[in-house]
Amino acid sequence: MHPMLTIAVKAARRASSVITRASRDIDSLTVTAKQHNDFVSEVDKAAEAAIIETLLDAYPKHAILAEESGAQGDSEFVWIIDPLDGTTNFLHGFPQYSISIALMHKGVLSHSLVYDPNRNDLFTASRGGGAFLNDRRLRVSKRKQLDEALIGTGFPFRDFTHLDAYMAMFRDMVQKTAGVRRPGSAALDLAYTAAGYFDGFWEIGLSKWDIAAGCLLVSEAGGLVSDFSGNETYLESGNIVAGNPRVFHQLLLTLAPHLTEALK
Ligand code: IPD
Ligand code: CA
Ligand code: CA
Repeated sequence: MHPMLTIAVKAARRASSVITRASRDIDSLTVTAKQHNDFVSEVDKAAEAAIIETLLDAYPKHAILAEESGAQGDSEFVWIIDPLDGTTNFLHGFPQYSISIALMHKGVLSHSLVYDPNRNDLFTASRGGGAFLNDRRLRVSKRKQLDEALIGTGFPFRDFTHLDAYMAMFRDMVQKTAGVRRPGSAALDLAYTAAGYFDGFWEIGLSKWDIAAGCLLVSEAGGLVSDFSGNETYLESGNIVAGNPRVFHQLLLTLAPHLTEALK
């Protein structure tokens, strides 16, 4: 494992202890709403602080982009961090959430991990080095047809600007695929696409920290990732489609009739 990824794993394990300890007594947590349906707990903040401290201890000159504390530093190395992806699940005791850490070097995703503390699943990837779940090499699924594909997604839940477009997409997807799932952690949804559990995934309006790590997992596992028009701006727009190459193209075709100008 590349030394930078090893440090990221150390950071994720520290965050995981914070999260797991807190999960035993969620009722006592202080929770505040950032906006409608967008909650942050002291756990998100403590986990993030543990990650940043571990990374900057090893690499004091690197920059950070983290969900709760924002951007700091100026470097060609930027760590993109979601300390707890799936906060709503976590706050309800629903055991589907993750820690997501990615390293961007000169604007290119170089290393990443998604860690699921409930299953002790560590997904890692390094550019050109493949994607792994613990020690096992990952490949995207081989399913060729959309009607046999299991597709992950996320529902709009705090910003309803694109709700009508999303519902139209959803209506089509439930009819054309073998099933649609909304587990609640976009980072894990992408890791599951890399692992071939999902044949594809789409969601509107995610943030960089939700998807940076997962995107590298998918591409290193032989999958494809793009925005809804098949372009590479997904990290900026947060509009994302991912999947094994065959299903990916069919997802783009299925979404196309429902794209408003803002989603193109
Ligand atoms: C959320 C999760 C969820 C997705 C949301 C994200 P958070 O992240 O990834 O699956 O549907 O759009 O914001 O807020 O729990 O870190
Ligand atoms: Ca997130
Ligand atoms: Ca989060």
